[in-house]
Amino acid sequence: MALETHNGGLERVLVLEVARVTEAAAIAAARFRGRGNEKAADKAAVDAMRRELALCDIRGTVVIGEGEMDEAPMLYIGEKVGSGNGPEVDIAVDPLEGTTICAKSMPNSLAVLAISERGGLLHAPDMYMNKIAIGPGYPDGVVDLDAPHIENIQNLAKAKGVPVSEITACILDRPRHAELIKAVRAAGAGVQLIPDGDIAGVIWTTDPRETGIDIYMGSGGAPEGVLAAAALRCIGGQIQGRLMPSNAEETARAAKMGITDINRKFLLEDMASSDVIFSATGITDGSLLDGVQFNGDFAETETVVMRSKTGTVRRIKTSFRNVGTRYIG
Ligand code: FBP
Repeated sequence: MALETHNGGLERVLVLEVARVTEAAAIAAARFRGRGNEKAADKAAVDAMRRELALCDIRGTVVIGEGEMDEAPMLYIGEKVGSGNGPEVDIAVDPLEGTTICAKSMPNSLAVLAISERGGLLHAPDMYMNKIAIGPGYPDGVVDLDAPHIENIQNLAKAKGVPVSEITACILDRPRHAELIKAVRAAGAGVQLIPDGDIAGVIWTTDPRETGIDIYMGSGGAPEGVLAAAALRCIGGQIQGRLMPSNAEETARAAKMGITDINRKFLLEDMASSDVIFSATGITDGSLLDGVQFNGDFAETETVVMRSKTGTVRRIKTSFRNVGTRYIG
């Protein structure tokens, strides 16, 4: 079932609905900025997101969430959310993307959600995924997950029409990326290391003039990979990912979720296979979005919400009153 009515009206209404959901999660999590309590921040975001989702006129199923039913009490994979009226949709959530950065009050933590018609988002298990992503405007396949790092950097520089020294790769700052970082630098490109938050890392590639980032490389969460793919489906760009199970149990978990070929290279259209709406609200200030600003009983949020059908990207600044009573995590 498509997400729209004959005039696209339903989908258009959902744009605002999903923005409300990430706004609520961001406000709740922002109360815990800098408190050093990752669990409390995450719980606040999850609770608020779930409460707000219950008000949406959708029959939603969580396909990417806080974990499987036995390990997450809320927003678990398979949980039904929404008012029970309206279209059947699949929902991918990351109520608090960057729990550590929020707990430390560092930049770029986000509340994130994507929504699609049923079956439109890859059911990705919570394990690592090796990823490569670039922004729009390049020929298909200019970079490839299976190509040597140096080749990807050189091909990208050539396609952009700049020397390799003008290419910057965004990579999560992890010991497991030591070889990758070394290879990218050896190719002559720069590396911007981030402490966490690779959904933003991928989205930054879509606006290199603003962000200075041309390519995202390395492994991060598979759920974050699908959410990033949903965003690129709206703004344009390319992403490829491959699951990296660390043991037989993870491979079995992927199979249970329908992924029988564990070595499959997923392209953007495999991860986000139909029209989607993607919404992210800033929790802490970042280069993608401003964080939540509190002023007494008022709060202001910044959200980016996009729709793949039209490619429209909206930035919404919202002012809330009475947040003390409405958005307590
Ligand atoms: P959380 O919000 O779940 O902590 O995820 C933050 C994050 O940095 C993601 O953006 C990224 O995909 C993943 O963690 C990387 O995992 P790890 O910290 O194990 O390298």
